[in-house]
Amino acid sequence: MLSAITVGLLALAASSEVAAAPQAGAKAHKVALQSRVPPKGQFTSVRKRASKAIGVPLDDFFMGTDLQWFGNISVGTPPQTVSVVFDTGSQTLEFASTDCSDCTQPNKFDPSKSSTFKRGRQTTTLDFATGVGVDPVVNNDYVLTIRSATDTVTVGGTSLPDVSLFTIIDQTPKFNIDPFLGIQGMGSQAEGFFEALIRQGLPSLFSLFLTPHTDGGAELLIGGIDDTKFEGDLIYADQTGEGDWEVESTQISVNGKTNSILKTSRSVIFDSGTSNILFDTQTTEAMYALISPDIKPFAAEPGAYGLACSEIGGLPAVIDLTFVSQSGQPFNLTIPSEELNVGPFESDPSTCQTLINAFDGLELVGGSLLKHYYSVWDVGGQRMGFAPNGL
Ligand SMILES: *[C@@H]1O[C@H](CO)[C@@H](O)[C@H](O)[C@H]1NC(C)=O
Ligand SMILES: *[C@@H]1O[C@H](CO)[C@@H](O)[C@H](O)[C@H]1NC(C)=O
Repeated sequence: MLSAITVGLLALAASSEVAAAPQAGAKAHKVALQSRVPPKGQFTSVRKRASKAIGVPLDDFFMGTDLQWFGNISVGTPPQTVSVVFDTGSQTLEFASTDCSDCTQPNKFDPSKSSTFKRGRQTTTLDFATGVGVDPVVNNDYVLTIRSATDTVTVGGTSLPDVSLFTIIDQTPKFNIDPFLGIQGMGSQAEGFFEALIRQGLPSLFSLFLTPHTDGGAELLIGGIDDTKFEGDLIYADQTGEGDWEVESTQISVNGKTNSILKTSRSVIFDSGTSNILFDTQTTEAMYALISPDIKPFAAEPGAYGLACSEIGGLPAVIDLTFVSQSGQPFNLTIPSEELNVGPFESDPSTCQTLINAFDGLELVGGSLLKHYYSVWDVGGQRMGFAPNGL
């Protein structure tokens, strides 16, 4: 069994002693950028040297349901391939190294084989609020212990020196099912390799094309928008998170209905590293009440809900989240009914887990919504863009 790190997750908080990892000293430095899709016209205001967007093909971690999308970067000199989840719910780069004896996956990064690796002095822990797969997080069961470092990071053929990163030196066992080595945080403030790319003139945004397993072809496009991958125009809304990506929602509707609990303004986090959606218990139960009274909390996994697998097929469960565009127009992002069933519980295979997890204090959507849209994460403009992905 593979083991190891990560997932996409929403990092709750790093413990405070973490603080200042040495920031990437990203000096401007001439590189040959890999040519992909040219940025659209709106980037003509970028005055620095024009750079082409960088495409990173993504694989889908699929276990009966789409869990996370991950791709390769390289770290070190000479470069070692490191597979990471591009996680908009966290901010830093961390991956398993040979320093982690609990990390049992193959091809861990070996710092001793990189001539440019510089070990830092800080050790800290990262706690995650959402974990691998669809299970709720309970009792701090997704924790990484990490140590600061810097090294050259290569993404899509572009090498960036002295990027801040962390190597994992210990991890809770729950991380052990991941088919990837680490997490590349893609939060709403540019950090790490992304910040270094922007300093070189790349537009300060990235786009995600997170396709369902059956379609394939998922891609992260750094510094550009591929308008062949969506239909119509992108609709943009203001991003209000500090670090996380958040957009204000005015209402949730389920199967075309809403109620006073759902018709409330809330800040919704968009997390590419999480598969299920999470809402306050009260909101979760108000949503389930509009789907089926038979959906019940699953006692063995607090926060999870389920229904007899024999009853779940074809149950209507269309979830519309309403947002307001920058030009003041309401628009919906819709999670279709087929996302309701995320598969049987391991401990009770006749009960199927349903999409919404209760987690008080968090309102978050992830892959189950994002895979129905092409999404643009505009760091420079502090906004998010969406268009149906046309699949
Ligand atoms: C990542 O690199 C590995 C090893 O080079 C390769 O087998 C795999 O297909 C790559 N994954 C993606 C998503 O490109
Ligand atoms: C959003 O969805 C709700 C519920 O289905 C619907 O009443 C509303 O008209 C939709 N809004 C837009 C702008 O499409």
